[in-house]
Amino acid sequence: MRFLKGNTYQDMSRIAANQIAAQIISKPDSVLGLATGSTPIGLYEYLVKWYKEGDLDFSEISSVNLDEYRGLDGTSDQSYRYFMNTHLFDHVNIDKAKTYVPNGLAEDAGKECARYDALIVSKGGQDLQLLGLGNNGHIGFNEPADCFEPGTHCVTLADSTIQANARFFASAAEVPTQAYTMGIRNIMQAKKVVVVVNGKAKAEAVKNAFFGPITPKVPASILQLHKDVTIIGDAEAFSLIN
Ligand code: GLP
Repeated sequence: MRFLKGNTYQDMSRIAANQIAAQIISKPDSVLGLATGSTPIGLYEYLVKWYKEGDLDFSEISSVNLDEYRGLDGTSDQSYRYFMNTHLFDHVNIDKAKTYVPNGLAEDAGKECARYDALIVSKGGQDLQLLGLGNNGHIGFNEPADCFEPGTHCVTLADSTIQANARFFASAAEVPTQAYTMGIRNIMQAKKVVVVVNGKAKAEAVKNAFFGPITPKVPASILQLHKDVTIIGDAEAFSLIN
């Protein structure tokens, strides 16, 4: 595991954007595994800026997103499809037909999970998977549990996740209680993993995930077994580690 520290959120976002830009430049038809949440917003801003300056070309890129709320349509402004469109896809020359997010409105959850698993395989897996980190150590929506769930699955969100994500909704009651998420195998099969973390609230999760035991109680801890993981954080998120 490699740790890269930026002093501020801005620094950390630029360092993370550089990793993704390097991937796009070195393999223009990369499959990017993308993440939502507040943490990656700054790095997406850098990617858009560098695209506008002519330094990045997304024309051959395809993407698979980690997760989506169950019950939300892609046009709903709280959906992760909407997030990706507004923060990245609408501003760069990516072919939206090659950007994939689980279908929050799928009628049959089992079929949707199987479809998404097959889709990731058909794309050849992610060249680079970007991840945020939940306060409880979750990745995607893989919540603390008794075992690691390998493939795409439908989860009931932990109360702490609903509370943490309530800031994006009018109230906690409006946060969907279920979501589709890539599983641990889907994430671990990425050739390269980049984790972004910022703020004091993530410091404990960083310590537990990357310096504690490997356990499904801290889903991100499994990343200790991946051969190419870079964790990029600001000073606050790294404050409990050396
Ligand atoms: C959500 C997402 C995760 C994300 C996490 C942290 O629950 N499903 O993919 O990493 O929250 O979000 P934030 O970056 O806003 O702290």
